[in-house]
Amino acid sequence: MFLRTLRAALPYVVLGHLALLSSATVTDPAALDACPGYKAKNVFTFGPKLTADLVLAGKACNVFGNDLEKLKLEVTYENKERIHVKITNPADARYEVPEAVFPRPHADILASPHSAAIRFNYTASPFSFSIYRVSTHEVLFSTASHPIIFEPQYLRVKTNLPAEANIYGLGEHTDSFRLPTHNYTRTMWSRDAYGVPQGSNLYGNHPIYYEHRTTGTHGVFLLNSNGMDIKINDTEGLGTTLEYNVIGGVLDFYFLAGSESDPTEVARQYADVAGTPAEVPYWSFGFHQCRFGYQNFVDVAGVIANYSAAGIPLETMWTDIDYMYKRRVFTLDPDYFPLDRMREIVDYLHKHNQHFILMTDPAVAYVNDGTYGPFDRGIKDDIFLKAANGSSPFLGAVWPGVTVFPDWFNKKTQDYWNNEFKLFYNPETGLDIDGVWIDMNEPASFCNYPCTDPFAQAEEQILPPPRTTLPPAHDSPIFGGSALQKRVDHSHDDVQNPPYAIANSAGTGALSDKTAYTDAVHANGLIEYDTHNLYGTMMSTATRDAMVSRRPGERPLIITRSTFAGAGSRVGKWLGDNLSEWAQLRQSLSGILGMAGVYHIPMVGADICGFGANTTETLCARWAMVGAFYPFMRNHNGDTSISQEFYRWPTVAQAARNALDIRYRLLDYIYTAFHTAHTSGTPVLHPLWYQFPKDANTFAIDTQFLFGDSILVSPVVEENVTSVRAYYPDAPFYDFHTLAKTHVEGGGFIEHTDVNFTSIPVSIRGGVVLPLREKGALTTAELRKTDFELVVAPAVDGTASGSLYLDDGISITPKTQTNVAFAYKKQKLTVKGTFGHATGVDVARVRFLDVASAPKSVKFNGKTVAKNAIAFDAASRVLDVALKTPFNSGFTAEFS
Ligand code: NOJ
Repeated sequence: MFLRTLRAALPYVVLGHLALLSSATVTDPAALDACPGYKAKNVFTFGPKLTADLVLAGKACNVFGNDLEKLKLEVTYENKERIHVKITNPADARYEVPEAVFPRPHADILASPHSAAIRFNYTASPFSFSIYRVSTHEVLFSTASHPIIFEPQYLRVKTNLPAEANIYGLGEHTDSFRLPTHNYTRTMWSRDAYGVPQGSNLYGNHPIYYEHRTTGTHGVFLLNSNGMDIKINDTEGLGTTLEYNVIGGVLDFYFLAGSESDPTEVARQYADVAGTPAEVPYWSFGFHQCRFGYQNFVDVAGVIANYSAAGIPLETMWTDIDYMYKRRVFTLDPDYFPLDRMREIVDYLHKHNQHFILMTDPAVAYVNDGTYGPFDRGIKDDIFLKAANGSSPFLGAVWPGVTVFPDWFNKKTQDYWNNEFKLFYNPETGLDIDGVWIDMNEPASFCNYPCTDPFAQAEEQILPPPRTTLPPAHDSPIFGGSALQKRVDHSHDDVQNPPYAIANSAGTGALSDKTAYTDAVHANGLIEYDTHNLYGTMMSTATRDAMVSRRPGERPLIITRSTFAGAGSRVGKWLGDNLSEWAQLRQSLSGILGMAGVYHIPMVGADICGFGANTTETLCARWAMVGAFYPFMRNHNGDTSISQEFYRWPTVAQAARNALDIRYRLLDYIYTAFHTAHTSGTPVLHPLWYQFPKDANTFAIDTQFLFGDSILVSPVVEENVTSVRAYYPDAPFYDFHTLAKTHVEGGGFIEHTDVNFTSIPVSIRGGVVLPLREKGALTTAELRKTDFELVVAPAVDGTASGSLYLDDGISITPKTQTNVAFAYKKQKLTVKGTFGHATGVDVARVRFLDVASAPKSVKFNGKTVAKNAIAFDAASRVLDVALKTPFNSGFTAEFS
């Protein structure tokens, strides 16, 4: 507290033991470039490894602390496409992201760098390094003329970039998908970010970027969870530069070669480092309804009934913190959400093949009177995060008033969490939830305890004094165990107000504002200063494990707010508290492209129709249709906003029905894309440039995107408009409904006019065979009983291909699987595969697109198909062949 007060009074306090330059000097990039940097000495290369000592090359410049005199450099060619560059302090343990939270990637160390696609090059004095692509000799990353700065609380690495660099990633943000390059700062520090403003730090942190050039795409990942500003700028007369300003940890870079021709290759390489995405249940692709502010169980039941009455598919009903008794986790309000009535609702949903999800916050109410089990048990097990004194629990203020926070680093916390899940989410005695929504896990705290903030006071809380009878601080074994986890000495550091202040947008900007204090202590001795950005991801992992312990063998659906790199291998995410504004509808697309296209968290969506403020009929209608192409499709609303369930307006209801019909027909296609992402790291959503990497017109496009790799979505995202100017790269595209072909030679814009408020332009990229369900359904269980149809959409060369993956839709390790490959050439479709999982349905028909004239003959498995099973439409050039064949083996269908 003292330091916080001091900071407020003297924001630019200069600590006596640090010889700091004035803040005017340090923000001047030229001054940093005048720092001495390091000299590389004792350079040893052993095949794929290079090690060196880096010794300070001149008079220290001590910009935000004292320059470290000596560093250790380690370079490893981890495989043909990946170089790991690590710079640490050999003298003293520094914080590193624990392996238990971010397992280090498997490395097939090369015998020699000669077969590598990218190479590491260095200059010894002053030390600088570059990474270049062997095939083109292009420099991809270079610190030349930007000395590395390494101080206890400030690390700087700066690279030159091409003049007009195409940089994507560095989320979580709501800025354009292709990042601005002019005076632009991306700050990594998790925060509760109501309104998700542009240009600010948000809930999650993903220090990975992909840089795309017409000559190739590569990636750079900095594995570091400390606060940082990454600045991209083109105003220094140096071309464009990208500069990391990090306030702790080590420099731990993974350089990914990507490829010269296929941008999705870099995504696969990043998946090798961060993990491929978790598979989710089939049902979770159905439509989800939620809001903050359902007043009681009758409200909840009413919404379920109204969706059904309106004929709008509702797969999963959600309930926000309203259900809790005094907003305490793992409780039910006995008056407004009584257990027996809530159980009736859950039973009803389950009987109708629908699902139920509840909110679970990390913060546990500080109720120190023996009446609140989750608090008492946590205190008894001593699993809460500790205040700076290392013994009393750290206190914050969240929904229930004063709270404590589970410490995910404590090895006993998982058992505690599992047990709370077992007690509360219990089919016999409690509520049988199908998935978990975890929120406020930055972790968010409304004010700095003891609060003077009027909001927290209004929460009817009298703040209890901290308990004095806590078990003493214990030295528990390190979570997950790892040699990296030496104690980090922060005794000379200012962890509340570090000398370099990152551009944190929370509260006054202090690191501890609206969250756990940076000096809060974890069970393994680590402090929040270093691990803050991991809290949400660690809660995600613990929650996934708790859910798996409830339903062994089943894939859980966990939707979190805060994420760190790698989170997608365990959970999905929503984009937090957006507003019901047109600009936010647009921004959501860059957000989902980042999560699903770059960071490998494909189960992602934004709050459809907007969370804060009031939506409008047309905004909600357009958003319902855009949201049908978010992998995770949920309508969610703030507590003070007008109701916005889709059935509230006829236009919105119709828009939702129309878009959900398309979504559900595509459900197996997107389910297959998830399976492919899980097995290979190929992204689930693609920006246009992933498929058209040489077409510079696509590089900045982020209001159109590909759902999977073949469905082009070109929504209307402007108010009062019924047209959209959509870009079509040089390839055939087929309208999803009419199946008619469009090909703008060389690429160009097409104006879609008359896009009324219940329709959305969707097209199929030429070159794909799409497995579609014949029609939508009200639940995904029903959908799975619907026949397939195959749509063959040829590329310019007349070929097409595709795949289909099916299993039971729920098992982590399914007993049976169906894997089908579709190949089309020379007017013949070949369907081959293994059909271990019975589809139980037929292929009702095949539609061949872009057929020039009525065929003379059509054959199925080499036998002529009866005339009455064939229809040819000369105007749309669609040949429709009714097959009605059981989908349990391969076949061929051809025409001539
Ligand atoms: C903040 C979340 O972002 C929001 O979605 C939720 O409704 C509220 N917390 C209340 O739980």
